[in-house]
Amino acid sequence: MMTPLKSKMIALSLLIALFLVAWTAMERKSDKSRVGRRADLARFLEGGRAQGSLLAQGSALAPGEPTGDLDDVRTQIEEAERRLARDTRLWTREWAAIAVRGARTALRDQRDRPEASELLARAEQLYARVRALDRVEIAPIHEQIKRKEYGPEDFRRDLGARPPYERDPFTERVLAIEESPAEERERERDMVHYLASPVEVVFEVIAQLAPDDVLYDLGSGLGKVPLLVGWLAGVRAKGVELEPAYHRLAAERVEQMGLDRVQMINADAREVDYADGTVFFLFDPFRGEILDAVMKKIRAVAETRPVKVMTNGRATEAIAQIAWLERASSHPSGLTTFKSVMRP
Ligand SMILES: C[S@@+](CC[C@H](N)C(=O)[O-])C[C@H]1O[C@@H](n2cnc3c(N)ncnc32)[C@H](O)[C@@H]1O
Repeated sequence: MMTPLKSKMIALSLLIALFLVAWTAMERKSDKSRVGRRADLARFLEGGRAQGSLLAQGSALAPGEPTGDLDDVRTQIEEAERRLARDTRLWTREWAAIAVRGARTALRDQRDRPEASELLARAEQLYARVRALDRVEIAPIHEQIKRKEYGPEDFRRDLGARPPYERDPFTERVLAIEESPAEERERERDMVHYLASPVEVVFEVIAQLAPDDVLYDLGSGLGKVPLLVGWLAGVRAKGVELEPAYHRLAAERVEQMGLDRVQMINADAREVDYADGTVFFLFDPFRGEILDAVMKKIRAVAETRPVKVMTNGRATEAIAQIAWLERASSHPSGLTTFKSVMRP
C-alpha cells in the first residue's frame, strides 16, 4: 500500500512535470525577447519579495485587492471590523485602513447602488475609528516634534521597538503622510503612481550619505525620503514631485517639522536644474523616454563632478544599462547604488 508521504511525493512530481511542460510550450509560443522574459520574471519576483518580506516579518498579509464584487468587499470590511474589535494595535489599524482603501477603489463606480453606498458608508465609519485611534497614539509625538522635544534619536528608538511590519505605518504616521490626497493631475504614460519607499531603504540611503551631499528624490510623492534624510541625517534633500496635491502636503510637512535643509519642488523631473545635486534617488518614478531625458540631465551634472545614483524597484534594471554608471553596491532591501564613471 502507498504511504501518504509517497502519494504526496508522486502528486508533487506530477505537478512539477506539468508546470515544466506548460512552461516549455509557453516559451516556444512566446515571441518575446529573452530580455522581456527576464524583466517579467524580475517583476514577478519583486512582487513575491514584497509579500514574502511581510510573511518573514511574522505578519498576516495585508488584505488583498478586492474585486468589484460586493460580497468580496463586505467580507474584507467585516474582517477588518472583527480584527479592530479584538485589538487596536498599529498593524490592525493599518490592516483596516488598507481594507477601506481597497473598498473605495473597488466600489468607485458603483456608488449609485444602495448596497454599495451602504457598504462604503460602513467602510468610512471604520476608517474614522482608525484615524481617531491613530490620533490618540501619534498626536502627542507631533506636538513634541513641533516643540523640538522629539528628535531623530527618539524616533529611531521607537521604531526599533516596533515589530518590523509596523515600521512603515509608524514612520508614515510620525511624518503625517499616511493618507494620500486625491490627485489633481493626469499622469502621462510612463509616469508611475505613488508608492512610498520602505523605511529600511531610506536607512540604507542615509548610511551612504556624506554631510555635504545634496540628495534629489526624483518623483518624491509625499516626501518620505527627503523628509527622513533631512530630519535623521541633517543632509540637504530635495524632493521633485509633479503631482501638486502630493507636493503641497510634503511642503507642509517640511514647515511643520522645521526642516530648513529640505526643499520640495513641484515640477516635472525633466524640467529641474540639478546643478547642485550629488546623489539622485529613484524609486521607479518614470520609465522610457522620461527616464532617458532625466538621466541625460544627470549625466550633464556628472560631467562636472562625480555623482551617485541610487535606485530601487524597476528603475534599477534600466539604470544598470547606462554606460557612464557603474554598479557600486547592492543592499539587502533591494537598493542599488551606482557611481558615475566619466571617461575623457
Ligand atoms: C513610486 S513613487 C516614489 C515615491 C518616493 N520617491 C519614495 O520613494 O517614497 C513615484 C512618484 O513619482 C512621481 N512622478 C512620476 N512622474 C514624474 C515626473 N515626470 N516628474 C516628477 N514626479 C513624477 C509620481 O507622481 C509618484 O509620486
